[in-house]
Amino acid sequence: MSLLEITNLSHSFSENVLYKNADFSLNKGEHVGIVGQNGTGKSTLIKLCTGQLLPDDGRVAWQSKTSIGYLDQYAEINLQLDMKSFLKTAFLNLYDLEEKMNYLYENMQEGDFQNLNTAARYQEELERQDFYLIDTKIGVVGNRFRQTHCTNERRSKSKGNFGKTFA
Ligand SMILES: Nc1ncnc2c1ncn2[C@@H]1O[C@H](COP(=O)(O)OP(=O)(O)OP(=O)(O)O)[C@@H](O)[C@H]1O
Ligand SMILES: [Mg+2]
Repeated sequence: MSLLEITNLSHSFSENVLYKNADFSLNKGEHVGIVGQNGTGKSTLIKLCTGQLLPDDGRVAWQSKTSIGYLDQYAEINLQLDMKSFLKTAFLNLYDLEEKMNYLYENMQEGDFQNLNTAARYQEELERQDFYLIDTKIGVVGNRFRQTHCTNERRSKSKGNFGKTFA
């Protein structure tokens, strides 16, 4: 099965018909970009794919156990966070899971082995979702951003400090 399979999708806002009987599939390893004029329905499609909106008609089906990340076009950003901390917020569910797992393991040190299986399941899930590679991946994104921004900065001779916020 495809990673994402959209069949017969229709969606409108009152008279504004955005999608009518649309089909689309995304396979493993493929990347997709959505291009269109302002107001044609790009964000709406993403919201339909992520389940934030239910389609008027049709079906949006993800392969089971697919994890979806989403960064809204109008993201509300806590300006107190540096870039690394901000990027980590995309994985808050995994940090929560790690906390629960650590709590169970700590209880085991005090002789409570009841939740051994649960803790092991949490650990497997973290490994499956590459939790222990998050720092590395975020480092790569941060470095790429810094390189791009610093190059543009040199070109434009502006004095922004984005490059310094990723410690
Ligand atoms: N909740 C809503 N209720 C009514 N109309 C909506 C709603 N959300 C979006 N629309 C309308 O649907 C159309 C598509 O909006 P959408 O935000 O998906 O466009 P977009 O392609 O992402 O635009 P942009 O390039 O500006 O980001 C627009 O005309 C918008 O005004
Ligand atoms: Mg949009």
